[in-house]
Amino acid sequence: MQFNRMWIEKESPEEYGYENIKYNLTESSTTDKTMTDVGIQLSQDLLLCYGDHLGKKELRQVIGKMYDAKEDEVIVTIGACMSLFLIYSAILMPGDHVLIMHPNYPANIEIPRSLGCQVDLYGLKFEEGFRMDVDQLISMLRPETKLVNITYPHNPTGVMTTAEDIAKLMKACEANGTYLMVDETYGDLTNGQRLPHVSSMSKYGICIESLSKAIGVPGIRTGWMVSKNRELLDKVIATKEQVCICGSVVDEECAYQVLSKREELLKPIKADIAEKLAILTEIMENQNVLEWVKPQGGVVCFPRIKEEIEIDTKEFYDCLNHKYGVFVGPGKWFDMSDRYFRIGYAWPKKEELRQGMLNLLKAIEDTRKN
Ligand SMILES: Cc1ncc(COP(=O)(O)O)c(C=O)c1O
Repeated sequence: MQFNRMWIEKESPEEYGYENIKYNLTESSTTDKTMTDVGIQLSQDLLLCYGDHLGKKELRQVIGKMYDAKEDEVIVTIGACMSLFLIYSAILMPGDHVLIMHPNYPANIEIPRSLGCQVDLYGLKFEEGFRMDVDQLISMLRPETKLVNITYPHNPTGVMTTAEDIAKLMKACEANGTYLMVDETYGDLTNGQRLPHVSSMSKYGICIESLSKAIGVPGIRTGWMVSKNRELLDKVIATKEQVCICGSVVDEECAYQVLSKREELLKPIKADIAEKLAILTEIMENQNVLEWVKPQGGVVCFPRIKEEIEIDTKEFYDCLNHKYGVFVGPGKWFDMSDRYFRIGYAWPKKEELRQGMLNLLKAIEDTRKN
């Protein structure tokens, strides 16, 4: 087992203490909402029993409609992170070959590593606009590759892919007998239409998603997976029963109420994200120490300090955190150089985002050597 990335949790704002962070640009969701914000009303008569092992039926029906899937083709999990864990553990054996995008939400990479798999990383490159080159990814498939995992909108870069590339990749994976898992945790935050779901294209297509990011309710620990592969679904539900039996009936009732109003809730959220992205864009376009790939979806981006700036990144982060009260997600969270950092631009208030970014530029000026 490899637990070398445990420091991520120690450095997360929840563990470091929100009260210790003035300008929090680390978050990867929209602003957290209250029960009132999202209109949750819980009955005192809600029975606190073990729930349906697949997840609350009415919740699965709402999710099924989003994915053109039947209610028994949906499994509700404790966050999308549990879907990742269950799917990987249900499918993979030690030594299996998997192909995963890098950089990434660490669990996407660390779970198959901890299961003893051979993990090949498909690297997204700044110089290529962090774009997924689907032909290159397909060329990395081996006859024995068990699973490919991609994410869009992508964390930490905010880049999108296209319907054509998804369909091409799905076809290649199916022909190779390889599962394609698409992490659509940010799926509701595309700048246009959502892309077609691989779960509807092939029995090898698996989608996962979550309530956490777009609506901003990560405290309702609810995510899900969708697949039309009965054998896979049976393995995943058997794994889920070993881990937690079922989810929380309270969380699943809250998730049901929230998802039933999804379109209505998303409208003002998307408007708010657009305004915040405009603030960030204006700042990024009026400075000359950072470069970025402007995000095309989601709520995060992954800029870097320009190569010509000589800087000791430890001094920079010390200054950023302790002199200016700004926190971002350093590159090391994603196994990248600390000259990169993730900015979560939709969680802070607009003024916090603006001031946080201006302070970040000051921290570079304070610590640069040339
Ligand atoms: C790409 C991606 N997948 C999955 C998750 C897990 O989210 P949750 O368990 O809150 O649904 C995250 C969280 O940051 C993520 O960024």
